[in-house]
Order: sequence, then structure tokens, then C-alpha cells
Amino acid sequence: MQAVDWRAEARAHGIDLTRLPQHIALIMDGNGRWASRQGLPRLIGHANGHTALRRLVHGCAELGIRILSAYTFSTENWRRSAEEVQGLMSLLARSAREELPVMVRNGVRILFSGRLHQLSSELQAILRRAEQATQHNDRIILHMAINYGGRVELVDAMRAIAQKVQQGTLCPEQIDEQVIQAHLYQPDLPDPDLLIRTAGEQRTSNFLLWQTAYTELYITPVLWPDITMEHILEAVLDYQNRERKFGGVPAGASAR
Ligand code: FPP
Repeated sequence: MQAVDWRAEARAHGIDLTRLPQHIALIMDGNGRWASRQGLPRLIGHANGHTALRRLVHGCAELGIRILSAYTFSTENWRRSAEEVQGLMSLLARSAREELPVMVRNGVRILFSGRLHQLSSELQAILRRAEQATQHNDRIILHMAINYGGRVELVDAMRAIAQKVQQGTLCPEQIDEQVIQAHLYQPDLPDPDLLIRTAGEQRTSNFLLWQTAYTELYITPVLWPDITMEHILEAVLDYQNRERKFGGVPAGASAR
């Protein structure tokens, strides 16, 4: 198959390569609907969703995106059937194990966020190995949220901060946004510039609550397994046509 030059494609779409979002967050919704529309089991939808993610990681790396944060398994997803939960965990383990050599070769750094200690010890070991083996890669970061919830992340941060206050190493007056940021799962990652949600739902579903305060949202009806780099380019173009004000006034606006 002929490799596509995504930077050339982006230019052809009218995208300014000097103003790419550096961090894109992904809510990968619609795997189940994709499967049921074709009369297939939900797990086939997740397997195809996984293929779609893999495609995007390599395409986005080539385009010049620095970080992808993918909402892979939420703290609410345990409510699904045992078969589906088990299937997702197996897919995750297989992917982290089997694709590791390709990720290492392609310069992908893998990071995981969430209450990982609640996963099986075998899966935890596989995830740790993937993080360690890719820790020096810097072409793109694939940040996967697993057993993740934005509220739970804040609860964990607050607990860690409260402990320091109790131990006397931090005063309540010192707690500010920087201190809270420093206690998140990935304190060094910049906030997402753009959040893409597939399958049409208009909400952020407890994903990166703190980090998406000023993130641009892009919602597409495309079901996750059908997503391609073409859709990502459309989202990036839409993002570039917006003006990010961060609560200020537009650049060049009159003071009156
Ligand atoms: C939401 O679709 C998707 C998930 C809960 C799982 C996301 C996981 C993947 C895309 C696979 C990613 C890769 C690995 C390595 C596991 P849904 O099932 O809620 O879809 P529906 O709303 O149509 O039912």
C-alpha cells in the first residue's frame, strides 16, 4: 500500500503546519453501534476501533502532532457485561505486548493514566513494560486513559495534597492551580488544544476535566472504527479557523 504524505495532504486541505494543535484528546465513541449496525458482536467493534487508533497514531506522528490522549476505558466502563470488560482488557494487553516493537521502532512514547493499581497485576506489568520500553521516544506521545475518570483523578490529586498538608510539608495557603496540576496523573503534559469526540454525543463524559478547561471541542457523527486521518485533517482545519481567547478578548479588538 502506498504510504500517504500527511503533511502534503494537510497543506492541500489548507492547514497551516506551523499552527497544528500539539495535543489532541480523543473520545473514541461508537464502537458498539458500528458493530451492531453490521450485526457483529460489540467486541469486533472494539477490535476495529483499536485498528483505527493504531492508524491515527502513525498518521498523526507523521503530520507533526506531539500528543494523543485516548479515552480507552473509563471508571464507568466496569458497568458493562463481564464479557465486554474482559474482552477490552485482553485487547489492551495484547496490543501493549504485540505492538510494542513497532511503537519502539516508530518513536512512539506510551503513557498510561488512571487507577492502574485496580487492574490485574499481569496487565499492570504489561503496561509498565510498555511505558519503560518507550520512555526515551519523542516522536509522538500516545497517552492512554485506562480505568480513568476526570473526577477520580481530581479526588486522587486532592488526597495526595491533603496528605502533604497533614504531614506539614504543604500549607493550605500554598495550594494553587500549579500545585493541583502537579498532583495529576501526568503533570508534565500540556493541556489538550483540541478534543475530538466521535459518534455525535455532545459531552466530555468525565475525560480530562481539569485539563480541558480551554480545549476546543470537535464532535463528528463518524463512528470511531470508521475514523481516518482525513477526519483528523477536517478537525484540525476547523480548529485553525477558530480564535482561542482563553477568557480574554480577541487579538486586535478595540478597548472600547
Ligand atoms: C466507546 O464505544 C468505546 C470504548 C468504551 C472503548 C474504547 C476502546 C477502543 C477504541 C479500543 C482501543 C484500544 C485498545 C488498545 C483497547 P462504545 O462501546 O460505548 O460504543 P457505543 O456507544 O456505540 O455502544
